[in-house]
Amino acid sequence: MKKKTIRDIELRGERVLMRVDFNVPLDKNLNITDDTRIRASLPTINYALEKGAKLILMSHLGRPKGKVIQSMSLGPVAKRLSQLLGIEAKMADDCIGQKVKRQVDTLKEGEVLLLENLRFHPEEEKSDEKFAQALANLGEIYVNDAFGTAHRAHASTEGVANFLPSVAGLLMEKEIEYLGKVLENPARPFVAILGGAKVSDKIGVIENLLDKVDSLLIGGAMAYTFLRAKGKEMGDSLVEEDKMDMAKDLLERVEEKGVPFLLPVDHVIANEFSEEAQVKTADEDVIPSGWRGMDVGEETIVQFSQALQGAKTVLWNGPLGVFEMAPFSNGTEKIAKVLAELKAITIVGGGDSVAAISRLGLSGQFTHISTGGGASLEFLEGKVLPGIAVLADV
Ligand code: 3PG
Repeated sequence: MKKKTIRDIELRGERVLMRVDFNVPLDKNLNITDDTRIRASLPTINYALEKGAKLILMSHLGRPKGKVIQSMSLGPVAKRLSQLLGIEAKMADDCIGQKVKRQVDTLKEGEVLLLENLRFHPEEEKSDEKFAQALANLGEIYVNDAFGTAHRAHASTEGVANFLPSVAGLLMEKEIEYLGKVLENPARPFVAILGGAKVSDKIGVIENLLDKVDSLLIGGAMAYTFLRAKGKEMGDSLVEEDKMDMAKDLLERVEEKGVPFLLPVDHVIANEFSEEAQVKTADEDVIPSGWRGMDVGEETIVQFSQALQGAKTVLWNGPLGVFEMAPFSNGTEKIAKVLAELKAITIVGGGDSVAAISRLGLSGQFTHISTGGGASLEFLEGKVLPGIAVLADV
């Protein structure tokens, strides 16, 4: 899956239309609360500017459903980007149209213009051909650096590539390289830790990884569905009753393949879904009625940590408990710390596990932190992402 990148083409004086994923969280005063995705695009943006491109950036923010919603303007992003670049990122008040075209025409080499939220137009998500062409008319080269949106077949991620030479940005290249290596040729032993709330979100990933991993560790609420499928009492824990057959089927296949599949052996439980709840621990077999699992217990942490020792590649996606509530963050935090110390290739995906790592100040100690939530899951499921498929092969 080797793709041509921005390094393979001449950029000087060219109008470079670059799709980035600036879908960042904003608070109610429209302050950016996490600028990781903007920072992650800087190497590609700086590269293009240093090479003398006239750079046009485009992104979505939120889900405005084809309407102009001022609180989803990319204005705050343009300000933050200007601070990070040390030059002004000009802001357009739309992403297509005559006025935008004129702004593009005044761009000089090494200057940057950020278009307004693509999703203010319903045509973006419909991948409307005319809309894609109107975007394409702004540039001479298309660069896709928006790995986080590569699972969407939209005008700016897929349609536009029908009209322009299309290459990957440096972030896109890095994501494909690390996540691709996990699937194709991981250094062994290769251990995957999957957490999060729902089996249904991760089933595709588990299935695709079964043939590739040396062991799988399962935490988060999704473990309760598997334990229930094994006949254990899970009290009021979040169990997906309608996914029980799927879970049983998967457990059978795991058994056939003989892949170690570690589920929690003890739990931190609470009498309500709240930080103020009463808290106690329970063993693997029974979570009493009126109580729900909220985190993995200490014995599970010991077993998971042992399973990780000696691993050469570790993939982690999804928290092991309700980590955003202090009494239930222990499992996620301790495993994050174990991973940070490992001498292994450590790859993390999914918004929640990434947030946990950054809250602990451990981001610098992982080999690769993916900027993709849904995109990294679909990639790990083995799906072909439309925003990658359209880029030129080497
Ligand atoms: C994300 O945050 O996962 C991407 O930016 C894609 O956003 P979407 O789920 O609204 O398409």
